[in-house]
Amino acid sequence: MNVPPAIRVEGLRKRFRTTQALDGVSLDIAAGEFFGLLGPNGAGKTTLISILAGLARADAGAAAVMGHDVVRDYRAARRALGVVPQELVYDPFFNVRETLRIQSGYFGLHRNDDWIDEIMHHLALTPHAGKGTQNLSGGMKRRLLVAQALVHKPPVIVLDEPTAGVDVDLRRSLWAFVSRLNREGHTILLTTHYLEEAQALCGRIAMLKSGRIVACDTTRNLLRRTHEHCAQLRVDGDAVPTNWQGRMQRDADGVWRVNFGDYVELENLLADLRAAGLRVQELQLQEPDLEDVFTDIMKGA
Ligand SMILES: Nc1ncnc2c1ncn2[C@@H]1O[C@H](COP(=O)(O)OP(=O)(O)OP(=O)(O)O)[C@@H](O)[C@H]1O
Ligand SMILES: [Mg+2]
Repeated sequence: MNVPPAIRVEGLRKRFRTTQALDGVSLDIAAGEFFGLLGPNGAGKTTLISILAGLARADAGAAAVMGHDVVRDYRAARRALGVVPQELVYDPFFNVRETLRIQSGYFGLHRNDDWIDEIMHHLALTPHAGKGTQNLSGGMKRRLLVAQALVHKPPVIVLDEPTAGVDVDLRRSLWAFVSRLNREGHTILLTTHYLEEAQALCGRIAMLKSGRIVACDTTRNLLRRTHEHCAQLRVDGDAVPTNWQGRMQRDADGVWRVNFGDYVELENLLADLRAAGLRVQELQLQEPDLEDVFTDIMKGA
């Protein structure tokens, strides 16, 4: 049997007046992936998500959710998708529980309170169930948006900057909950400007710049692309062995800094220091992170 990708995007183009928001984007996200969509402000991330959710029409190309075309088969595509929007939108006339019941009703779910209770529990919304949405703090409104996206247990969950303005505790519980949903088989598409979150959570990442995909790979491979590890060390002498002098810089504090490609080089450095009778007093390693890779790719693209 041929399983369709959870999300398929082919040659998507979208222009707003003078801005080419999407300039030919193609992407397949398999069912069960935890996928990151990264890019600077204005790269086109929200535009892509709006097209998936049927809130915007592409000028060209096609998009499908769980095999359902977002235009021809709008209802099925929409039902397969839960979107946490970037903008805080809510109806001020209802409380939290009512909002979630109404949202369930849009999907024809009229006895959904067990699941609503569970979602509220995981998002720490239970104590606020009876609060009017206009009385929620910004972070609580964000939680409500996450809850709304999940009422119909969609197989594909899209989170557009879900942690903007969210405190550390909720961020942790939100990621624990989303990771659990992913383990249970839900496909996750996440956009975020917190690259350490993307690095920790996403198995695969696409980077978007000016409406084009400039990188798309597993997080592991993207991290490997980056230059080097960096070691910072302090030794009990004024100089390092001559064969290392060209490669090492010393800062005002007397700390030596050296970039290396693999750990064998580090072993060699330590061996040479020992042979020269220099004792290492301090050693710190800086591993490459996604922020380095992102910056490199955006500069190069
Ligand atoms: N409704 C609209 N009318 C006009 N221009 C728009 C509209 N929506 C988006 N744009 C433009 O399209 C481009 C892409 O915007 P989009 O919101 O998709 O970016 P983004 O990657 O989500 O950015 P951010 O990280 O800031 O959320 C931007 O230049 C933006 O100004
Ligand atoms: Mg956006």
